[in-house]
Order: sequence, then C-alpha cells, then structure tokens
Amino acid sequence: MSGGFPLVRPRRLRKSPTLRTLFQETELSVDDLVLPIFVEEGVQDFADITSMPGVRRIPESKLAGEVERYARAGIRAIMTFGISHHKDDVGSDTWREDGLVARMSRIAKQAVPEMVVMSDTCFCEYTDHGHCGVLHGGTVHNDQTLENIGKQAVVAAQAGADMIAPSAAMDGQVLAIRRALDAAGFEDTGIMAYSTKFASSLYGPFREAGGTTLQGDRKTYQMNPMNRREAVRESLLDEEEGADALMVKPAGAYLDVIRDIRDASRLPLAAYQVSGEYAMIKFGAAAGAVDEHKVVRETLGAIKRAGADLILTYFAMDIATQGL
Ligand code: PBG
Ligand code: ZN
Repeated sequence: MSGGFPLVRPRRLRKSPTLRTLFQETELSVDDLVLPIFVEEGVQDFADITSMPGVRRIPESKLAGEVERYARAGIRAIMTFGISHHKDDVGSDTWREDGLVARMSRIAKQAVPEMVVMSDTCFCEYTDHGHCGVLHGGTVHNDQTLENIGKQAVVAAQAGADMIAPSAAMDGQVLAIRRALDAAGFEDTGIMAYSTKFASSLYGPFREAGGTTLQGDRKTYQMNPMNRREAVRESLLDEEEGADALMVKPAGAYLDVIRDIRDASRLPLAAYQVSGEYAMIKFGAAAGAVDEHKVVRETLGAIKRAGADLILTYFAMDIATQGL
C-alpha cells in the first residue's frame, strides 16, 4: 500500500488555529527587521515621498527624536540613507568627519546607544551625476571608487556605526573596506555587504526618496536580474573578502537566489524588500485589490522561508507597532 490518500490527509494538521500555529515552520519577528530611513540635511520639516505612501524624509534636526520613537516601538536596527545638499562629482561629503553620513550615525547612536546602526555605504546620494562612484568617461571607475569607499567606512565607524553596508556594487569593495577599517583600528566594526545586488527596476521610488539625479542605469556595476549562478558567485566573493553578513536585493522577486545563497554560505543572510516592493503593496492595497496587513506579513514571511535571517523593510515600524 502506498503512503498516499486516503491514509494521508494533510488537512488534519490544519483543523484549528492552534494546530496551524503548532505546525508552522517559519516565524516572523520584529527582532529580525531593519528599518531603512531617509535623513535630509538643511531642512526643518518632514517631507512626504509621493511614490512611497507612509514614508517620509526626516529632517536631520528631528532624527534623534525619531530614533527614540523607533526604539520605544521595539525596532532594533536602522539603515541610514542621506539626502545631501552637498553634492559634487565624487561624493566627497561622505568621507568628511562632519559630513552627513557621519552625522547620521553619531546622532542615532547618541540618541539610542543600543540601536544597531547600519550605515549604507555608497556615493549616489552625494554625487551630482547620481552614480555610485567616481565617473570616468561615462562609466564608474572601480578602483578609484574603492579608495573613497574605504574612507567613508572609516568615518562612519568613527561616528559609531555598528555595521558598514556597502551598496555601491564595486568589485573588491568589501576587502577595501575591511582593510581601511582595520588600519584605522576598527577591527570590530562589521560589514554587511549588499553582496548580490541586482540592477532592478524596483528601485524606482528610492530614487525619488533619496533625491538621486541619475541619468541612465547602473548595469555596468549592478547584476543582471536574469543570472542565478552569478548571483551566488557574487555573494561568495564577498564572503572571501571578509564580509560578516550577506544580502540579496531586491527580495521578493529573488527568493530562489536567497535560497541558493542560504545553501551555499554559512554567513548570516539579509534580504532587502526594496522601495518598489513597498510601493506595489501600498498602492495595490490603496486601490482595494489586496489587504495590506496580510500581504505585508505574507511577503516578509516568504522571504524568511526562502532563507533570509533578517529583512530590511519599510514596513518594519508597522510590524513593530501593530504586531504580527
Ligand atoms: C544606493 C542604493 C539603492 C538602494 C539602496 N541603496 C538604489 C540603487 O542602487 O539604485 C535601493 C533601495 C530601495 O529601492 O529601497 N546604492
Ligand atoms: Zn549607490
């Protein structure tokens, strides 16, 4: 006799809410969430981001109060993005000791010392051309960008950032940052690399949020979304370079990649539910097509089920304040 129906009836374990909870395989917890935030210098007021309903740019002067509010709600970690009014061709504000990157970490750690502060480490919000590094003949010069990214990482670590999170997608960026941090005495500052980062159309709303001025695309440095083997290779390279944690970005359309990297590496793995994923849920719910509360929990749960240990999501405060 085969082990199939009618002996086998999977519905037995779904009979009641308590049974379903008992046999649930994946748990979502606010402890595993990171809230990405946008901080603008030189302004006094919060500003709505029209393509990301419910997300606002925070004026620098109100950052401390916001971080305290997140901590009270139960948020454990934030990722900082700056909106700069000091752009130039290389993004030099990012490695000034009193530049916006440094100030965001300093203010956040001073407000709530136990908040884990991850410093997004890139240049596109600080360059006048909007690319993620030094531009040379229309393309980003890899190795010159590496010099600058090491300087930015040291300044962020000095300011108190717990984790450096390089998102520029330059070859060798993790090694360059590890060397610069160690040389400056920050051996204990961790690196969470955006190790598998796709050139995705789902970053659209972020470009409005971050005030980037990019013309064209990032396809010479970010990955082709159609490549699965290369996705694993990219993350393993960052592991070899000394990354403490890996990341897949975006998340929802790349669950296969999350699973592949989960199986290929023993490092902690993060996944970034990006601005476009957020916007699709928000606008879909606003149109009455889907239930926001449920879709948020289903998509985040699916990202964990695929193998992510932690998730960066703009819904983190909603989960913290509303519960699961
Ligand atoms: C910048 C950066 C981007 C995001 C995080 N860091 C944009 C990009 O690479 O173009 C996207 C985040 C989001 O869409 O929520 N390097
Ligand atoms: Zn960038």
